[in-house]
Amino acid sequence: MTQTLIHRHTRLSIFMHWFNAGCWIFLLLTGLGLIRNDDLQPFPFWPTMLRTVFGGGGNLLLAHELIGITWAGGFLLYGIIRLKSDVFPFIRDIFTVDIRRDFLWLITKGIQMTLGYKLLGVVAEKFDFNPKIPDQGFYNIGQKIFAIPAVFGGMVIAASGIVMILSQTGNADTEWVQWAIVIHFITVGLVFAGLLIHVFMASIAAGEKPAFISMFTGTVPEDYARHHHKLWLDEFKKS
Ligand code: HEM
Repeated sequence: MTQTLIHRHTRLSIFMHWFNAGCWIFLLLTGLGLIRNDDLQPFPFWPTMLRTVFGGGGNLLLAHELIGITWAGGFLLYGIIRLKSDVFPFIRDIFTVDIRRDFLWLITKGIQMTLGYKLLGVVAEKFDFNPKIPDQGFYNIGQKIFAIPAVFGGMVIAASGIVMILSQTGNADTEWVQWAIVIHFITVGLVFAGLLIHVFMASIAAGEKPAFISMFTGTVPEDYARHHHKLWLDEFKKS
């Protein structure tokens, strides 16, 4: 039986997502190679290996900066061109939270993913709550909890990176540069922690496979949309 497919992502938003993912991977790998402090470096062979690949530390830093500027510049351009059509609706969506419904989603979904539907029923009966996983909109609350720090963390990472680049030309205050280094490291670490869960949920968790495929095709099967994003599907059908 053929499934009805529902439009979920535009070609441009798919392109921006994979452009973002590609830049992040490159920046993480090269950024890790720039850490020469033995107390901080978890993989001591990595900086030496990357310096050999790039032909020296100067080239490695230059490549990191160039991709960083391309990444931030690409998003700045996208943000300006698609402010009303993409950026504002996205920001509105990720900040739309129904505390009771979404908190219950986190609890029930967490139990279902770790223990399964059967034990979710047992736990719900014991603690006297409804085992039905509450309906969600275009993004579920788990995705929103990642998307907010990913977007705003990205801005902090770009801004602190620019301060560090300016420091090379002597155009930045030493105190600002020291703060920028600390903030850059901590923010990358925090977003990276969320990214591990995001990538697991998006590409390894079996039930989320249609969302992963939609990041290439732009569409999801109607059944998937009803099961995972019913509030969005209802709105979609009305429009
Ligand atoms: C390379 C590995 C990655 C994979 C496999 C992946 C996969 C996905 C998928 C399948 C979606 C669509 C979810 C849906 O339609 O419901 C998505 C959305 C999204 N991705 Fe990724 N992604 C990756 C990397 C990244 C990176 C590096 C970032 C940013 C740091 C990122 C940020 C987002 C955001 C903000 C969304 C929208 C909200 C959300 O679904 O959490 N992704 N990703």
